[in-house]
Amino acid sequence: MLEVRDLRVSYGRIRALQGVSLDVAEGEIVALIGANGAGKSSTMNTISGVVRAAAGEIRLDGESLVGLPSHRVVRRGVVQVPEGRLIFAGLTIEENLRLAAAAAHDRRRETEELERVLGLFPMLRDRLTERGSSLSGGQAQMLALARGLIAAPRLLLLDEPSLGLAPLAAREVFDLIPRLRESGVTILLVEQNVRQALAVADRGYVLEGGRVTLDGDAGALLGDELLVSSYLGIQGKEVA
Ligand SMILES: Nc1ncnc2c1ncn2[C@@H]1O[C@H](COP(=O)(O)OP(=O)(O)OP(=O)(O)O)[C@@H](O)[C@H]1O
Ligand SMILES: [Mg+2]
Repeated sequence: MLEVRDLRVSYGRIRALQGVSLDVAEGEIVALIGANGAGKSSTMNTISGVVRAAAGEIRLDGESLVGLPSHRVVRRGVVQVPEGRLIFAGLTIEENLRLAAAAAHDRRRETEELERVLGLFPMLRDRLTERGSSLSGGQAQMLALARGLIAAPRLLLLDEPSLGLAPLAAREVFDLIPRLRESGVTILLVEQNVRQALAVADRGYVLEGGRVTLDGDAGALLGDELLVSSYLGIQGKEVA
């Protein structure tokens, strides 16, 4: 479904990606893991059209996404939920969802998709008239995910969905990911929480210094003591 080939990205003199290649097949959950600054967000932001590639190719179903503005990438079915739970704190939950729906669909479909997404997140249905600012970290992450899903993506790009969440809220996010796949969404997942990410993923890629240094089946990567221990070392804590 998604093919990334020799992707290069620079910010001025900083060469953030130095030739990243990866594949995601339809229906897969693929984890992209690596330390701070490895290039995980740069990879995602370039796929979604937020950042421009200096070189390389990104193809969805064989057609290039390179150079498309992000709203056109969304229309091709690729939706990113960026790092940091970007929601509108001053708007209600319903307004947050309707704005995201309106950007992707016509009015009739907007309401259909709102209903579909509220079915996945009953917690949001109970809080439709509350403001974004009233949500806990975990609830805000659920709203950010719902805003992404309301665009009805075929490929969902999740950047650090568990970052900064309490263990229970992180658990809820990781429990949701396989359910999203069951509903027909293909997922590329960026996480520093290596164990949890590989536990839900089919395959993984390890990024270091803007390059893929290791890839394989999630189970095999999980069994790689050195990999897991080095990241647990960096991370310092584990989500139970
Ligand atoms: N807008 C920017 N301007 C300049 N340098 C940037 C910018 N965004 C990222 N970088 C640099 O590019 C490199 C890759 O950053 P990126 O954000 O892609 O990494 P990451 O793996 O997502 O890290 P993190 O785990 O901290 O989110 C880093 O050296 C970072 O400092
Ligand atoms: Mg990042």
